Amino acid sequence: MTKAPDFAALKKDFPILHTERNGRPLVFLDSAASSQRPTQVLDAMDWMYNHAYANVHRGVYGLAEAATNAYESARLKVARFIGSPDSSEVIFTKNATEALNLVARSWGGANLGDGDAIVLTTMEHHANIVPWQMMAAERGFEIRWIPLGENGQLDLTDLDVLLDGAKMLSVTSMSNVLGTITPLDRLISAAHAAGAKVCIDACQSVPHMRTRVDEMGADFVAFSGHKMLGPTGIGVLWGRHELLEEMPPFLGGGGMISNVTTEGFMPDAVPSKFEAGTPPIVEAVGLGAAIDYLEAIGMDHIRQHEIELTSYALRTLSERLGQAITIHGLSEPAQRGGVMSITLDGVHAHDVSQVLDGYAVAVRPGHHCAKPLMRELGVNATARASFYLYNDTSDVDVLADALIEAHRFFAT
Ligand code: ALA
Repeated sequence: MTKAPDFAALKKDFPILHTERNGRPLVFLDSAASSQRPTQVLDAMDWMYNHAYANVHRGVYGLAEAATNAYESARLKVARFIGSPDSSEVIFTKNATEALNLVARSWGGANLGDGDAIVLTTMEHHANIVPWQMMAAERGFEIRWIPLGENGQLDLTDLDVLLDGAKMLSVTSMSNVLGTITPLDRLISAAHAAGAKVCIDACQSVPHMRTRVDEMGADFVAFSGHKMLGPTGIGVLWGRHELLEEMPPFLGGGGMISNVTTEGFMPDAVPSKFEAGTPPIVEAVGLGAAIDYLEAIGMDHIRQHEIELTSYALRTLSERLGQAITIHGLSEPAQRGGVMSITLDGVHAHDVSQVLDGYAVAVRPGHHCAKPLMRELGVNATARASFYLYNDTSDVDVLADALIEAHRFFAT
């Protein structure tokens, strides 16, 4: 590993972290919903719009070629960042939700019908549930569920039974509510042994830990740009080349065809086949700049920083709030990401978040688009604090002060 950077010094790269809310410095603890961006990303996008912008894969003039090169360079960066030896396996989408819809509709449409089964977990974000439910309503296949077990882990007792005869396992790599890191090695090998394909919703893990699709062994991996210091409006689907080749297009239009007649069309090769219409050009460049930024720090350093911060937060919040606080999920920081769902005894999560906002602490209250998981946890809502590389222990201290105030105000 290279030398660890000075994480405290990174904050200067994020202009928004130097703003104030309600007369106090912003404490941004909502990166699981969407991260902030450093000036390096904002500048790269600004530069592209000001100096190198044109549509891609269309014009033959120099500016259009420069834009196409910038867009395709971003694809190469993404491929390298996730360990894909073949950049045509990287498809740019609008977001991770669209990437998962692409798999459900295109792969699912070609492979799933009445009598088939797929396996999901109750820990999934709605983005990895609803697209499959929509397809199941059309095609009549069965959805089986891996339930939640002890301490925010999946209960894998019946894994082989659930996978028996299933054609797909689609699973999160890290819960957006609990931070649980799921046992992908075990899940992927069991699914493949049962003859099922595997799709990973990696939205919460790719921004925070080293990802190698070449070592992981999954068939599809989806993630978004805006949770990893990149812009909104861009997501990624990585898929195995041979599967992508076989799959029908998802959206139709310009850019995804090799020929069109009045009788029909011929789809283009991957990845163009899945990139209909003008793609997120400047967003791809922004995502490339975000990857440069993350790689310069080092993903292993980022992970280590977040383990240390999560460890500090688990200890500090438990010590300072005692019985008043429940921190859902695993107590071992190395087994979870920097996502912390909190309930305060006798205080609704929305009230908690409002008091926190008075301290300029930004957290997400609610069901976190994971209602089946909330049902299993037996709660309607939590307040979720989530960390990233620009957070430090002082942010946790302000969070603790604000939580104590919320509890004092509402519950005593
Ligand atoms: N998926 C994002 C979250 O968990 C929006 O908050």
